[in-house]
Amino acid sequence: MRDPKRVTILISGRGSNMRALVEQAAGYEVVLIASNKPHAAGLDWARGRGIQTWALDSKSVDKAQFDRILSAALDHHDVGTIALAGFMRILTPWFVEQWRGRIVNIHPSLLPKYRGLDTHARAIAAGDAISGCSIHIVTEELDAGEVLGHAEVPIEPDDTPTSLEERVLAAEHALYPRVMRKFVRR
Ligand code: GRF
Repeated sequence: MRDPKRVTILISGRGSNMRALVEQAAGYEVVLIASNKPHAAGLDWARGRGIQTWALDSKSVDKAQFDRILSAALDHHDVGTIALAGFMRILTPWFVEQWRGRIVNIHPSLLPKYRGLDTHARAIAAGDAISGCSIHIVTEELDAGEVLGHAEVPIEPDDTPTSLEERVLAAEHALYPRVMRKFVRR
């Protein structure tokens, strides 16, 4: 029986959401940081905090192999919940099935609006007054699983994708740990 309170965070880059999840951890424990990029900046930060890390270069194996090796590593660390945080890979249906209902992701838009990439530019181009971020359960369909929580961020008239991204990111850092605390109890 997997313990949902034992959380791993999957990253590919800087890992600012990872840091927020670690620093605001309450009601769950971050037991492993895993990455498909052995040089992801977030891994060094995690090691400095004494958190276990795991990395496998996703270019070195095929997609199915990567997901099988990752899944085995997560079981080895007794993980119960998987938090994607800037993990720039689409997980295979096989992996999603192994971890059904236990994988969450943070997405920088108010889902179901703007699935996929370039969310801030798309929200500005559409003339939206409000953007934000969403935490959702990962399913086989990209950014389409049940939404667990939203945070809204107003779009200012002079916003650029970069300035909007900064404010949405700050909202992400407050939202993700809050939603995680609830999610691990269900
Ligand atoms: C965030 O914008 C998040 O919404 C998206 O990828 C970015 C990750 O940033 N999924 P960071 O690595 O957590 O700083």
